[in-house]
Formats: sequence, C-alpha cells, structure tokens
Amino acid sequence: MKILVCGGAGYIGAHMCKALAAEGYEPVVFDNLSSGHRHAVKWGPLVVGDIRDRRALDDCFAAHRPAAVIQFAASIEVGEGEANPLKFWNNNVGGTVTLLEAMAGAGVTALVFSSTCATYGIPDRMPIGESEPQRPFSVYGETKLAVEKALAATAKISPLRYASLRYFNAAGASPDGEIGEEHNPETHLIPNALKAAAGIGSAMKLFGTDYDTPDGTCVRDYIHVMDLAAAHLAALRLLLDGADSFICNLGTGTGLTVREILSTVEAVTGRPVPVEESPRRPGDVPRLVADPSFAQEHLGFFPQYSDVGTVIRDAWNFHKTRWSLAP
Ligand code: UFG
Repeated sequence: MKILVCGGAGYIGAHMCKALAAEGYEPVVFDNLSSGHRHAVKWGPLVVGDIRDRRALDDCFAAHRPAAVIQFAASIEVGEGEANPLKFWNNNVGGTVTLLEAMAGAGVTALVFSSTCATYGIPDRMPIGESEPQRPFSVYGETKLAVEKALAATAKISPLRYASLRYFNAAGASPDGEIGEEHNPETHLIPNALKAAAGIGSAMKLFGTDYDTPDGTCVRDYIHVMDLAAAHLAALRLLLDGADSFICNLGTGTGLTVREILSTVEAVTGRPVPVEESPRRPGDVPRLVADPSFAQEHLGFFPQYSDVGTVIRDAWNFHKTRWSLAP
C-alpha cells in the first residue's frame, strides 16, 4: 500500500519512511528539497515537487494513487518565521491547503498532519493536555494552528479524516546511524551541544539561565524520532481502519532542563560541552511538557526510545560518523 509522505526527505519524514517500509508500506516522498536531503530518501520513490504546486500534486496522486497522506512539509525554524512571516503563511498554510484540495480531487480521505506544541504558546497548566487553550507565541505556531482550523472545517463538510499530532521536542536518530538530524542552519539544542562537545565551532550558546525553573534553564519534553514515527504509524492505521479524526499530543510527560541535557551529553560523549551563557532567545517559553494520556489511550503509544540517554546516544552515534570523528 502506498503512502504519500510530503516532506519525506526531512528529519522526521525520513524516519517515518523507514518505519513505513519496515511495516510493508511503500512510502512515496513528495519534497521540494528546500531543506530535506535527496540522500535521506531510501525507501521508495522521490517526487521532487512543492506542495504549493497543485499540478505537481495532481500528477503525483494520479501516478501513485496513495491510500493516505502524511504531511511534514513545512518551514519549521521559529526565528525565521518571525523574520519572514509571509514565507511561513505561504508555505505552511497555503501549501497544506493546496495539498488538501489535491487530496479531495484525488479522492484521498486520510491525513496525518504534523502539528506542534508551539500552538499552545505559554500554557496555563503543566503538563499540557490537548484541550489546553491554543495561543501561539510565534508565527510558526500560528501557521500550524491555522492548518488545524482548516482541517477541522474541512472534515465537517467532506469525507476527510485526519490525525493532528502535536509534537513536543523531536530528537535522536535512527539507532543504526543510517539517518538523523541534518538541519542547516542547526538551531536545536541536542545537535548543537554535540557539536560543541565534538569541538566543532565555538562554545554552545546557552539561551537564558534566569527562567523560573529548577536550574534557571528551559524545560522541554524530548521525544525520540523513532517513537514519533511509531506514533504516526499507529495514527495512520487507525485512519485506514476508518477511525474518526483526532488530535493528539506526542511527548513523554517528562521535562528536562537544558542543563540536564548538557550533562547527559557530557556523560554520553565523555567530552565537556563548552558553553557560553547568553540572554534568553526570543520566542522561547520556560516550560513545555506533554500530558501523554490521550496518546496512551487512543494510540496505545508508549515511547520505547525516549529516555534521555538513548536519545543522546543515538544522536551522537549519527553525528560522530557524519563528522568523521574517531569512535
Ligand atoms: N537552546 C540553547 N542553545 C542552542 C539551542 C537551544 O540554549 O544552541 C535551548 C533553547 O533556548 C531552549 C531549549 O534549548 O530552551 C530547546 O531548544 P530547541 O531549539 O532544541 O527546541 P525548541 O523547544 O525551541 O523547539 C521545539 C521545536 C519547534 C517548536 C518549538 C515549540 O523544535 O519546532 O519546540 O516551542 F516550534
């Protein structure tokens, strides 16, 4: 069975394709390669195209006749969204709307959508449940929320059924080292800390040490990319079996501070992480931790890889090879 994976050349998308292939599905990647990598597409065909291009999408649906779509293709770097909001509205909202139109045209009714905890903004309660108010703090979060609204409105009047998955902090890499996180520029904590530990570039900037958290640094809920892929598979299977639309957090329920991550990086790599304590990064919120109960009940989702040691070991294993460091 073919599954169209938009953004399948990117970090989470590539892990998704690997997981789909392991379960006997054929992932068809649709990606404009603006941030994804051709070398990360290994488990099925690559269609180079842009989700804002209706004709390219129509041709792809006609050629491959996928049973469902998983939509990862988006601009994701929070800071870039503040500097270039129209790019985010055009790509994330315009692109996904065009994809929904093409799906309707092709008669494809099942969609797994990559949403984010950034749609919650600064939450009133912790951990964050799915019914928490959504008041995004960034253009990125606004655009993902706008798509959630478009999905809800479309599902009301059409056969569309969707799963909107609100990820917390995706991290880690394939345990065999085959694929991993390759953003350019890299803004995420774990790869940046590993880079500093490897002695590549200068010290890692630690953004904000005066938050109201146990050690003054931000608290996040890190989820291994293998676990994210497994949760998408579970969501996909539910939709293919005819389930109704649903919205679901994907996190572990455990929060870790930046300093806790840094000390695990030091323990795993056996190297110090040179750090430059710096002012808060605009757009960061102090604490984001998921309430994972609904994912447990509805998807039977219990993370297998997301303990912090495994997350960082797998990421290190991937980057070490990429950076050609001695084992
Ligand atoms: N951090 C540093 N130095 C770095 C990188 C990050 O100190 O070089 C800190 C950040 O300030 C933050 C924490 O590490 O406190 C985590 O930062 P990441 O950039 O790894 O992750 P974010 O929590 O900012 O981003 C994640 C997702 C986004 C999503 C966002 C919601 O990657 O897609 O959560 O807030 F939008």
